[in-house]
Amino acid sequence: MATDSLPSSMVSSQSSKSLQGRTALITGASSGLGRAIALAYAEQGAQIVCADINPNPPPNTPILSKTLAATDLQTPTVDLVNQLHPLESNGGQNGSERAVYVHCDTTRAAHNEAAVRKCVDVFGRLDIMVCNAGIAVEAQPDRILRLHEQPEEWFDRTFEVNAKGVWLGCKSAVTQMLAQDPLGGSEGDRGWIINMCSVLGLVGMAGTSCYSGSKGAVLQMVPFIPPFPIPFPSFSRRVKRGLELMTRRWMFQTKSIALEYAKDRIHVNCISPGFAETAMLEPMKRRDGDQEGAKTTAMLAAIHPWGQLGRPEDIARAAVFLAGDGASWVTGHCLAVDGGYTAQ
Ligand SMILES: NC(=O)c1ccc[n+]([C@@H]2O[C@H](COP(=O)([O-])OP(=O)(O)OC[C@H]3O[C@@H](n4cnc5c(N)ncnc54)[C@H](O)[C@@H]3O)[C@@H](O)[C@H]2O)c1
Repeated sequence: MATDSLPSSMVSSQSSKSLQGRTALITGASSGLGRAIALAYAEQGAQIVCADINPNPPPNTPILSKTLAATDLQTPTVDLVNQLHPLESNGGQNGSERAVYVHCDTTRAAHNEAAVRKCVDVFGRLDIMVCNAGIAVEAQPDRILRLHEQPEEWFDRTFEVNAKGVWLGCKSAVTQMLAQDPLGGSEGDRGWIINMCSVLGLVGMAGTSCYSGSKGAVLQMVPFIPPFPIPFPSFSRRVKRGLELMTRRWMFQTKSIALEYAKDRIHVNCISPGFAETAMLEPMKRRDGDQEGAKTTAMLAAIHPWGQLGRPEDIARAAVFLAGDGASWVTGHCLAVDGGYTAQ
């Protein structure tokens, strides 16, 4: 088809960088998927604020991964972004480079707010929020522990980071997105939010009840008290309260937020990756004394129909799509990027 028969917006999106001039805040950007997303966004022209509790990649980065053997896993993400994708013009409002780091523990509201402020101070606004930071405590022990063997702290910490951290990140982001003008050159869009879920938020896996519960919460969290009165006036207050609590719904977090802000033209979507080659999987690979990690790697590859683990850039490409004009009418969606894992 000749390009002159296409709408102009489609022609330009084919020929230019898809995130040119947009500012992104990415949590958990120092490692794995967040790092790959930062690099992919920078390649597509975005300015990046890299938020993490640690500016450096974790020391146990996936040395067992053959896929990532040629990848730089040691240089801090901001330095790598600025080396590979330097800003052509004068930089942010303060003449900054394309990427800056901000220390941010996503479980703390003040840190999320400060990270958003950093975006505004350095680059003038926040267009894309990627709530990616997450932990998998169940991956740490050298064997799978079942629920009766797991300490209660695992649940609290996992939900604090994986669920509350995402909720706080969304809250800080929408607050800024509502306060700023729509992005110039867009169709009036105010922002793009991408939450990192997991296939384990969609289906179960033995030994991962904290993790999969928390990822389900990224899809299903905001408690909802029915707006209608319990319709039996003769019931006591206590019975009514009990009924009210029983009818609370665990609503879709990503979907609820998407519904709340669709009228403001803020896109809210999530990605559910399958098992991907990052530091998160390293302890699992070494289970049962397997120092080469071959057995677990082969097992994980085999449970994906595609026959291999995901690479961080596979997930990053989906994150580029969800932050760009290609996703102009996409909101409230959970995009599985999982080599067919959840198609089974
Ligand atoms: N790797 C996988 O197989 C996989 C699969 C599905 C989903 N995910 C999800 O993708 C996201 C990224 O995981 P990854 O594989 O890149 O892991 P990773 O361990 O390589 O990186 C996680 C990053 O998050 C940071 N972080 C942890 N807690 C934080 C906090 N409270 N505040 C700020 N930063 C914090 C870490 O310092 C690290 O840089 C997570 O939410 C994870 O649950 C990963």
